[in-house]
Amino acid sequence: MKNPILSLPKIADERGALSFVQNGMPIKFETKRVYWIYETQANVRRGLHAHKNLRQILVCISGSCSVLLDDGYSQQTYQLDRPDVGLLIEGLIWREMFNFSSDCVLLAMADAEYSENDYIRSYSEFSTAVLHAKTIKK
Ligand code: TYD
Repeated sequence: MKNPILSLPKIADERGALSFVQNGMPIKFETKRVYWIYETQANVRRGLHAHKNLRQILVCISGSCSVLLDDGYSQQTYQLDRPDVGLLIEGLIWREMFNFSSDCVLLAMADAEYSENDYIRSYSEFSTAVLHAKTIKK
């Protein structure tokens, strides 16, 4: 799995700090949709799906949470707790978000509009898709 951590620009002065994502900075990315997850309960797990064709950047703009990324071969968990760090999720990746702090606001930028058809919500379907993608690549 490629390192998904993006170091976002941070412009800080005596008035405070400002971070941003714009196309080409820090990566080529065209945002078509922005959504945010908040008022989460401490013990919930969200996500639990993959996407067939979607790139997303997650930024925890308040509080903290953990994000597990699984490419079908290995899993890695990232702690998001800084508004100047992004997590890029692209390709066939199963994701789970958990350990939400009560003040967590998890912002997501996506390069496509919402489509339920793009979701893979079953892990066995995800595993099959990973194997299929591997076969096609060969
Ligand atoms: P879902 O993606 O399942 O949330 P999570 O991955 O955080 O657990 O979305 C929850 C609900 O919100 C689901 O009914 C679909 C809807 N939704 C939209 O209508 N638009 C969106 O952009 C997103 C992300 C979800």
